[in-house]
Amino acid sequence: MAETLKTRNEEEKVELKPGMHPSYLNILIQKREIKEKTVGIKHRIGVYSAKGGVGKTTVAVNLAYALKGMGLKVGLLDADIDCPNIPFFLGMNNVVPQDYPIIPVEKDGLKIVSTGMFLEDKEKPIIWRGPMKSKMLREFFENTSWGELDYIIIDLPPGTSDTPLSLMQLLSLDGIILVTTPQTIAAKNAIRSGMMAKRMNVSILGIVETMSGAGLKGAKDAAEKLNTAVLGSIRYSEKFDALSDSGKVPFIEDKEIRDAFTDIAKKIDSRLK
Ligand SMILES: Nc1ncnc2c1ncn2[C@@H]1O[C@H](COP(=O)(O)OP(=O)(O)OP(=O)(O)O)[C@@H](O)[C@H]1O
Ligand SMILES: [Mg+2]
Repeated sequence: MAETLKTRNEEEKVELKPGMHPSYLNILIQKREIKEKTVGIKHRIGVYSAKGGVGKTTVAVNLAYALKGMGLKVGLLDADIDCPNIPFFLGMNNVVPQDYPIIPVEKDGLKIVSTGMFLEDKEKPIIWRGPMKSKMLREFFENTSWGELDYIIIDLPPGTSDTPLSLMQLLSLDGIILVTTPQTIAAKNAIRSGMMAKRMNVSILGIVETMSGAGLKGAKDAAEKLNTAVLGSIRYSEKFDALSDSGKVPFIEDKEIRDAFTDIAKKIDSRLK
């Protein structure tokens, strides 16, 4: 069944595939509208795992710096709307005035947006139900002045609902990077996350293992199960905690970490060229 529906800027054929609920048409229209509003962004990448605390934000932040270090224009979006951590990781303690459309903050040449930027008390909880979070996510794309970017790196919250679901439905992602630690439970959740992406027709660009010991473990298992590549591993180092506690970026401070993330960034960039 194909239906012709008007999007904001043009008449567009939106096709509902067999078996899709008619209400899905609205999502397809929203997706089209977001695409129109973000034509200046070449590549969109989500950093994801359904499991909390595995290093998603760490990978998103350091990968953004690595891509920037390759001379690319990079945006970093904290899509962890109710528990934003990017301002902590980057030592962004100031309160940013809420402009509309939203204007990303520039730091070290990156364009950054996080709900945490707008909070006076950075530890204050944001207590919103799913629909509010989905609305905020749309604002981040429809009403944010990203300008021209080669990449936007999107730091996702854990879970397989609300924000990850909206993002996979609404944004034309180039793909996601899955993050796991060596532990079996983390790998199982990376597999679960990859299966969700596959179901949502989102490509898996590969898996990064964080807090690794000698050799690969969780990422290898998950990559085999999902038939994808291991992009790299970041060794366990106490430096991460010490640096993020003081708002310093490991990529800037440590050569081994910089090399590991640059290698991952190069793999991703050459794959998307
Ligand atoms: N390679 C590493 N070695 C040691 N500590 C690390 C490493 N990578 C990340 N960490 C630390 O692990 C903790 C969790 O990382 P992070 O916040 O990036 O995880 P997350 O998956 O984004 O968590 P959440 O699900 O809460 O968003 C942080 O304190 C971070 O500094
Ligand atoms: Mg996080």
